[in-house]
Amino acid sequence: MWERLLLGALAAFVVFKVTLITYRRRKYPEPHEDWTAVDMNALSFPSDFRWGTATAAHQVEGHLVNNWTHHEQQNNLVQSGAACDHWNRWEEDFQLISELGLNSYRFSVEWSRIEPTEGTWNNDALAVYSNMVDNLLERGIRPVVTLHHFSHPQWWEAKGGFADRANAPHFVRYCERVFEVLSDRVKTWVTINEPTVFSTMGYTLGMFPPGHRSLRATLRVMRNLLLAHADVYQALKKIRPEVRIGIAKNVTLFDPKNRWSPIDWPLARLLEWFWNGAWRSGVENGRMFFGDVSAAKGTLDFVGLNYYTHVLVGPASVSLLKMKFPKRAHEVATEFGYPMYAEGLRRALDWLAPLGLPIEITENGVADANDTLRTEHLKRHLWVLSQAIQDGHDVRSYHHWSLMDNFEWAEGYSMRFGLHHVDFETQERTLRPSGAVYKHIIEQH
Ligand code: GAL
Repeated sequence: MWERLLLGALAAFVVFKVTLITYRRRKYPEPHEDWTAVDMNALSFPSDFRWGTATAAHQVEGHLVNNWTHHEQQNNLVQSGAACDHWNRWEEDFQLISELGLNSYRFSVEWSRIEPTEGTWNNDALAVYSNMVDNLLERGIRPVVTLHHFSHPQWWEAKGGFADRANAPHFVRYCERVFEVLSDRVKTWVTINEPTVFSTMGYTLGMFPPGHRSLRATLRVMRNLLLAHADVYQALKKIRPEVRIGIAKNVTLFDPKNRWSPIDWPLARLLEWFWNGAWRSGVENGRMFFGDVSAAKGTLDFVGLNYYTHVLVGPASVSLLKMKFPKRAHEVATEFGYPMYAEGLRRALDWLAPLGLPIEITENGVADANDTLRTEHLKRHLWVLSQAIQDGHDVRSYHHWSLMDNFEWAEGYSMRFGLHHVDFETQERTLRPSGAVYKHIIEQH
């Protein structure tokens, strides 16, 4: 009798699981194109579509003193040092952007330059950023300014940075100062770059400053970032309601490593919720990780999408902590280790669509020192993008990461994402063949 009951229960459980998995497989498909059968030259973009590239201050400017340089020194990491010496070479670098034929450039301003000690403003630094904006506009290039791209002054970090909600007013004040100087000409602003990457890398994995490993702190920082964004949005909109303000959200997709596995599915869903879902719920419903972030509702004029890859998740995904990435048999691994998965760009756009906002692709690119993958990478992603736009997605721009090789955070100078190769001894920039392909595609569209 008991045996039968037990067997019955077991059978019911198996049927239930199989149904659940089948249901999920349908709800969360993982499409893969047969790229040999795709005509990647068949592209179509609206005439006002913007073509761009992106950089960030700490990765290119050089000679900074901030939370990152502090972290690099404390942990004996590769020092960012002179980086691309862009602070002294920006005019030449803007010439490279012109030569590529681009009409949009996303870059970040460096808080530690602008307010090196609390309450002291470096007007010379602000004037340089202002000159950069003028120069870009003269070239017919739209400036897209990011206010926080992973780096900030160490004095603010010492107060707890984004981990302490009480620190937000300093951040808002800095943003207002930059805004006062640039917003007569800069009309597209990104408040915060990749809030989830910043909080997870800095507070869960400890690979970014401040190098903590605490889930509680991670969740707090995630909420505080969204609230700080909302504070800045409100403050800036008061000064100039017509500007467009957004966040650059890294949408990484999480797929079950084994699509038959009842363990991999819930793990993938959980990580996806943690990485993406909680953020969208924050901006959509004002709830994030069971906390109230209602101030963030309605504070986006556009979404910036940073798209790089999908992560395959299984019980061995503890390997995530070591940043090891499995890939499908037919997928190509990028130098970072994660697979090239252009199909995911469409999924990321579909996932953002319920927000009903225009989308700017604020980053997409590949670590590829020998330039063996970048052309294919570009072509696939642009094909997916072109299809998505034709199917009705409101995407306004594409910014390739990056204009040139630069300081790749915890990876130092080992990962080369540039359309231009940089010789860090001589600071010489050389257009890669893939860069020429990008230029050619832009010319045609
Ligand atoms: C993004 C980040 C960029 C760049 C890129 C390449 O997460 O915003 O600064 O480092 O990744 O890995």
